[in-house]
Amino acid sequence: MNAVDYLRISLIDRCNFRCQYCMPEGAELDYILRQQLLTDAELLSLIEEVFIPVGFTRFRLTGGEPLLRPGVIEIVRAIAAFPQTQDLAMTTNGFLLAGMAQALYDAGLRRINISLDSLEPDTFDQIIGNRSRSRWQQVWQGIQSAYQVGFDPLKLNVVVIPGVNDHEVLDLAALTIDRQWHVRFIEFMPIGNSQLFGDRGWIASEELRQRIRDSFGLTESQVRGNGPADVFQIPGAKGTLGFISQMSECFCDRCNRMRLSADGWLRPCLLNEGHQIDLKTPLRAGADMAQLRKELRQLLAIKPEINFKQRESGITGAYSRTMSQIGG
Ligand code: GTP
Ligand code: 5AD
Ligand code: SF4
Repeated sequence: MNAVDYLRISLIDRCNFRCQYCMPEGAELDYILRQQLLTDAELLSLIEEVFIPVGFTRFRLTGGEPLLRPGVIEIVRAIAAFPQTQDLAMTTNGFLLAGMAQALYDAGLRRINISLDSLEPDTFDQIIGNRSRSRWQQVWQGIQSAYQVGFDPLKLNVVVIPGVNDHEVLDLAALTIDRQWHVRFIEFMPIGNSQLFGDRGWIASEELRQRIRDSFGLTESQVRGNGPADVFQIPGAKGTLGFISQMSECFCDRCNRMRLSADGWLRPCLLNEGHQIDLKTPLRAGADMAQLRKELRQLLAIKPEINFKQRESGITGAYSRTMSQIGG
């Protein structure tokens, strides 16, 4: 079993996009009230006094859209400064990135994953629920800025929705031929928009790989990421292709992560809502950090059971939190 040393931290549940697969327009969410969000000080003390002592050394900042969190640069700086931090990354939609990439890098962020579901501005706007001036160009600019600033690896995430963007798989894969980028295709999961999921379904990674193999060739890469992606490469390409196949495969046996929501709930498994613990309430009540460490250790001890229990019961399709509230 993998060591569980990677924490995904949702900084805020709000987002400036309304991606169809995540938080579609109309599905109004109950946003976390400001006073319910972990403050910067609360978050940093949980990391320093609870997660790091128990062995967490790798952190990813997520949302909603993490760049909407006020003070995000200072949060990055503070986490990067913990001597135990071995890896600090972010997953963003890229819309605000062009203006922030350099400051994020200077604050100590080194890895960034950006959602890019389409290369066609109209399709992109349709997916992100945008009706005004196209937002594609600004996201593309954000990606370029991140690359120029030196983020490495730079990963682009594509959620593949049948009939919406799957016709672009070859074009998206081709981005890796002369760029050192990592394009990852994610199987659409029924969290967030079960209506769309019911209508469209999902495409298995192997089918996408076959399409890419037929056009460009495809070899399995020697590089194994530290996450759920299976990594491949177009022969001779500078970048790689990743496939995140939570619908068609089970990668729980190599799960190395837990998730902390913006309101302080610790979730041991993305696809199993059981066993979550509230860290904020005891923290605000003045709990002893040693007690919180003990609870976290207990949760770590039963994590494999939590993972496998989920897989035995299958993906339920009914989640009380959306991906924007969990952080992906
Ligand atoms: P690195 O490999 O560290 O770069 O990150 P990552 O791929 O884990 O992070 P990212 O935020 O880019 O994740 C992309 C998507 O992968 C998520 O939105 C999920 O759809 C999926 N994913 C990530 N971690 C898990 C996991 O533990 N379980 C499942 N089922 N899916 C996951
Ligand atoms: N299925 C698969 N991936 C999803 N994401 C959000 N919602 C879903 C879903 N229903 C992905 C986004 C982003 C990451 C944080 O989560 O594309 O890359
Ligand atoms: Fe980990 Fe749960 Fe995802 Fe499996 S489904 S990889 S246990 S988070």
